[in-house]
Amino acid sequence: MQLIHAIIRSSKVEDVKHALEGIGKVSLTITDVKGRGQQKGIKQQWRGSEYVLDLIPKSKIEIVVPDGDVDPVVDAICEAARTGQVGDGKIFVVPVTRTIRVRTGEEGDGAI
Ligand SMILES: Nc1ncnc2c1ncn2[C@@H]1O[C@H](COP(=O)(O)OP(=O)(O)OP(=O)(O)O)[C@@H](O)[C@H]1O
Ligand SMILES: [Mg+2]
Repeated sequence: MQLIHAIIRSSKVEDVKHALEGIGKVSLTITDVKGRGQQKGIKQQWRGSEYVLDLIPKSKIEIVVPDGDVDPVVDAICEAARTGQVGDGKIFVVPVTRTIRVRTGEEGDGAI
């Protein structure tokens, strides 16, 4: 069982949700986040002067999937979130040791 953290453009959230639904993945968590990548923010202009927006608003999608579903889910997110420009986002995959469905007490892949 793996937790996929995908930090993506907020404008791509609907496309990514749709792509995930298309491969049967409905359950997920979405959070508004701020962060920066290798460009250390972005330069912006305001009333003629330039300043750096250090932390850029993004959306984070968290989705827990069985090990065998990681590759198709990552592929679907990448395809739906990509514009080809810097700032398209990043995906981290981390192991999950335990999942429990609160209503039933089920555990493991059946509880995802
Ligand atoms: N190493 C990292 N650790 C934690 N969060 C990160 C990391 N890299 C990127 N992020 C998060 O992902 C968001 C998007 O990153 P971004 O797509 O700009 O990555 P990048 O490495 O700069 O790639 P690119 O050159 O395509 O812009 C950042 O705003 C930040 O929230
Ligand atoms: Mg970047």
